[in-house]
Amino acid sequence: MMDWTDRHCRYLHRLLSSRALLYTEMVTAPALVRGGAVHLLDFSPEEHPVALQLGGSDPAELAEAARMGAEAGYDEINLNVGCPSDRVQSGTFGAVLMKEPALVAECCAAMIAATDVEVTVKCRIGVDDQDPEQVLPEFLARVAAAGVERFTIHARKAWLQGLSPKENRDVPPLDYDLVQRMKGLFPALHLSVNGGISTLAEAKAFLDAGMDGVMLGRAAYHNPADILGPADRIIFGEDAPDRTAEDAVRAMQPYIETHLARGGKLHQITRHMLGLFTGRPGARAWRRVLSEGATRPGADYDLVEEALAQVTGEPVAG
Ligand SMILES: Cc1cc2nc3c(=O)[nH]c(=O)nc-3n(C[C@H](O)[C@H](O)[C@H](O)COP(=O)(O)O)c2cc1C
Repeated sequence: MMDWTDRHCRYLHRLLSSRALLYTEMVTAPALVRGGAVHLLDFSPEEHPVALQLGGSDPAELAEAARMGAEAGYDEINLNVGCPSDRVQSGTFGAVLMKEPALVAECCAAMIAATDVEVTVKCRIGVDDQDPEQVLPEFLARVAAAGVERFTIHARKAWLQGLSPKENRDVPPLDYDLVQRMKGLFPALHLSVNGGISTLAEAKAFLDAGMDGVMLGRAAYHNPADILGPADRIIFGEDAPDRTAEDAVRAMQPYIETHLARGGKLHQITRHMLGLFTGRPGARAWRRVLSEGATRPGADYDLVEEALAQVTGEPVAG
């Protein structure tokens, strides 16, 4: 998710779940291939398994970007066919490609030929006045014929005119039933559902009903401890104690200190930690201490301990 799932966010999320697949922000193929923005590929080895999401619509450029992603060590290369923003539309990326399944297939074939890493697609059920009942199965069939075996489907249309990107994540109605029926039509494909899922219980229900995967975006970001902390046990069936928000905070200390020692700023990391105690006593004070203090010059890990004391009630050491 743009501006959200940067490497710091992913490092934190990995501390909460060993198994959940994490995705980068969308990186555009032109930025990588023509813009030389190779730093956008940086990640920590601890983040595995991690998928690189690419945006683009030029097969040769996407193939080169996929090759760069594979070389950087990503576990999966995902093509964005869901983003509705204007900027992205103008470059023919994202959701507008739902109208061009042949081009998406060509892009995916080129990416698959360029790398050994699995190429996957994230799409919508349609755009604008398309009939999802018709276009979604056609899209899946066409792109699967190019060799893609795994799709994540955001279960709502994108309306490319008149809605902001934010509205396009809430306003077009969700059609989970259609997405679930795709599993019946394409039993050999690995299909994940996305959109509006806010608890692990809901996610588990989709898996029990036959979906192969569930992608949680906003809920995982805003409430990472409740979503990712129990995920290894509830979703992946591991016999391991749930990771807690406190554990994650303390485990962030060396990462934060290394970041600061390299000249980074505390708030670049702590902005992703604000939701860790959502719903718990002290959550508001935790957020306040971090948001007010983390941008101050010299702010360091001590501020995080000070914020943590608001939640745990423990006196701050020293
Ligand atoms: C801030 C923000 C940035 C996003 N950026 C991306 C992106 O880069 N690529 C993408 O495929 N989806 C992106 N999305 C959409 C989410 O991946 C997801 O499809 C959408 O939010 C619906 O799922 P949710 O209800 O679980 O959040 C973004 C969503 C948000 C809120």
